[in-house]
Amino acid sequence: MTGEALIVLENVNKWFGPLHVLQDVDLSVARGEVVVVIGPSGSGKSTLCRAINRLEPIDSGSITFDGRKLPAEGRALARLRSEVGMVFQSFNLFAHKTILQNVMLGPVKVRGEKPAAARERAMSLLERVGIASQADKFPAQLSGGQQQRVAIARALAMQPKALLFDEPTSALDPEMVGEVLDVMTSLAKDGMTMVVVTHEMGFARHAAHRVVFMADGQLVEQASPAEFFANPKSDRAKDFLSKILTH
Ligand SMILES: Nc1ncnc2c1ncn2[C@@H]1O[C@H](COP(=O)(O)OP(=O)(O)OP(=O)(O)O)[C@@H](O)[C@H]1O
Ligand SMILES: [Mg+2]
Repeated sequence: MTGEALIVLENVNKWFGPLHVLQDVDLSVARGEVVVVIGPSGSGKSTLCRAINRLEPIDSGSITFDGRKLPAEGRALARLRSEVGMVFQSFNLFAHKTILQNVMLGPVKVRGEKPAAARERAMSLLERVGIASQADKFPAQLSGGQQQRVAIARALAMQPKALLFDEPTSALDPEMVGEVLDVMTSLAKDGMTMVVVTHEMGFARHAAHRVVFMADGQLVEQASPAEFFANPKSDRAKDFLSKILTH
């Protein structure tokens, strides 16, 4: 972590009709920092991620990425999207393309990279996430955990400056959660800037630099994982933790 901010949200507000889904959100994520966002269902965690990637417009406030204000549209927005990778709960792989094609597609189509070079990098990324041997299969032939690792390789193929994860393991059978978290932990160790929405408190404890607790559209508290889990300050966080940690 360098201390230099990569993602900065200032006074961000967003409404869905009457619902004030992001309320005066201030959040700064340093280069190389891993921030885990937790909070009850409906608190605005996905909306926060989507706003950072500009999949959702905000109503007021500002979001800057790497020193630049988020572009509203056009080519600048496309560039920003390729600088911020996103991994969702549903892997969203192209069903009729092979694993290798899924990972090569962005670099070739969006970045205009030469197929040979894109293929080589895609293979080394598949190696990194432990599924190079599956490169010629189709997504449906892989387990959920393997598909999610392909989705991570695909995001990495665009050489993003940051990765956003929105509940990347929530759709997985329990025995596959670990293999995806291992890949994420290794990315964190390598210095990738990551914002991770997850219910995996083990990951939060071991891989996060900071835990942010959200409730009702507000960032209620943030602290190091050690401090947050040992000594949550707000009643909402205490209540949330007592519910999830007893399951
Ligand atoms: N496109 C939309 N239109 C209207 N309301 C929406 C929309 N997307 C989300 N909401 C509402 O905004 C609130 C926050 O939703 P969001 O998905 O960000 O919560 P979350 O913290 O990610 O919840 P979960 O843990 O269930 O994924 C919820 O009340 C949700 O119903
Ligand atoms: Mg969500």
